[in-house]
Amino acid sequence: MTNPWLDISHTDYENHMTAVDQAQVLNKLTLHSLQEYQPERFALLGCSTGNGLEHINTKITKTVFAIDINPDYLNIVHKKFKGRIGNLKTINMDIAKDALNIEKIDLFFIGLVLEYVEPQVTLEKIIATLSHRGVLVIVIQKNKGTAFVTKTQYKSLEKLSKISNEVDERAIDDFIRSKQLELLNREELELTANKSFILIEYRKKY
Ligand SMILES: C[S@@+](CC[C@H](N)C(=O)[O-])C[C@H]1O[C@@H](n2cnc3c(N)ncnc32)[C@H](O)[C@@H]1O
Repeated sequence: MTNPWLDISHTDYENHMTAVDQAQVLNKLTLHSLQEYQPERFALLGCSTGNGLEHINTKITKTVFAIDINPDYLNIVHKKFKGRIGNLKTINMDIAKDALNIEKIDLFFIGLVLEYVEPQVTLEKIIATLSHRGVLVIVIQKNKGTAFVTKTQYKSLEKLSKISNEVDERAIDDFIRSKQLELLNREELELTANKSFILIEYRKKY
């Protein structure tokens, strides 16, 4: 089976995420993370078309790795940001299957991607890239009895229901702590009566 993310046009994706207000919330959380942790080397998994990369302060953040399975999304990221972010590296890969050959990442942001992969396998690869005292920020979605992917007029997104799963927060928390990271912050942000985002932030221990 081809990954359904490869069949979702960037316009459908962006319109859907904006319609459900999730793009805006993820954008703010990316801004918060960049300001809080001031990374020199930043990695964004599931960058889609670059939501949040406009907040990069190039005086602080010198290298940005934008990672996604969909090459069309990455072409857009490249076009939008190549002039603005000097050392922008787009990486087209399937995080579930391919090796992630980057290192010394000061801040790794994963917003709504663990829902589409095996979380532990992905986290293992990501944690291995962190710098000394590197920070990992994760956003996962929590549902109370509603469809995982909210229905909008953009029907192509419905293909994702085949591969999406709610992430077990407790299980990933145990796993991440077992890799010598400490929890810095946890917040629940209510999106609707039935949906919220959980923000969890960890730092590598000394
Ligand atoms: C729900 S979106 C993430 C939200 C996005 N960061 C934003 O702010 O709009 C999921 C992203 O992860 C990418 N993705 C899904 N599965 C992936 C995989 N196995 N490897 C790499 N990227 C993946 C998708 O192509 C998509 O761009």
